[in-house]
Amino acid sequence: MDCSSPIGIFDSGIGGLTVVKAVQNALPNEDIIYFGDTARVPYGIKSEHTIRSYALQITEFLMDRDVKMILIACNTVSASARDGIQKATGDIPVLDVITAGSKAAMQFPHHKHIGVIGTLATIGSKAYEEAIRQYNGEVEITAEACPMLVPLAEEGWTDNEIAEQIVKKYLQKFEGSDIDSLILGCTHYPLFTNTIRKVLHDPDIEIVDSALSIASMAKKKLGDLQLLNDEQSGNFNCYVSDRPQRFRELAERFLGQDIPNVHIAQLQQ
Ligand code: DGL
Repeated sequence: MDCSSPIGIFDSGIGGLTVVKAVQNALPNEDIIYFGDTARVPYGIKSEHTIRSYALQITEFLMDRDVKMILIACNTVSASARDGIQKATGDIPVLDVITAGSKAAMQFPHHKHIGVIGTLATIGSKAYEEAIRQYNGEVEITAEACPMLVPLAEEGWTDNEIAEQIVKKYLQKFEGSDIDSLILGCTHYPLFTNTIRKVLHDPDIEIVDSALSIASMAKKKLGDLQLLNDEQSGNFNCYVSDRPQRFRELAERFLGQDIPNVHIAQLQQ
């Protein structure tokens, strides 16, 4: 492993591409290997044991490709398996979206009430509450699981009438509440930002996405470790566990760029 090694980024599906986009902007020289577990998405309705075992298989896959850092671009995995992944990677640094998302929410120290939305596993784990409380013990936190949103995003339905109705139903919890910010505690959810904005009806509510925050944490960490790539490279390779062509089409739509290198990689079931 050295400066020219790639950064490994993974998620259960396309959601982690929101993190890829931010990393490509912050670190254009870096090569990226992305893994999307399209054969087994969604993770958020599965048990902690299952999520952990999937995450460790992907970690091994990325380590076999000599990555210099791993970004867990999945809140569900961050909530269930972060420590196990760091243990498995040894010296290779691991950053996760829950730490990044909580830090991002702390940019607004005057906020008194924070909303969090995520998968059943993430919300059930209370990982956001724990992470936020490390910075601020006073703030009120209201959390809601939105299990239908990941399958909708994988279907590409993020901006239509059905998406809007489902988002409305989930966000009812925050109606009439005085939340100052809403953390998108699932990397699929930034794909619904327009719909969420429309449903919230309140431009003053700050929508917090962990992608920019994890990208700047990655830049800082690689700099500290003197592992930044000085050469212009920026290769992007995607691996998925099922249906690469379908992933490619959706991913190209969301990233707004060609993604020629989508490969299939089957992990043990
Ligand atoms: N993008 C994943 C997350 O951030 C979605 C998990 C799932 O597959 O349900 O939690």
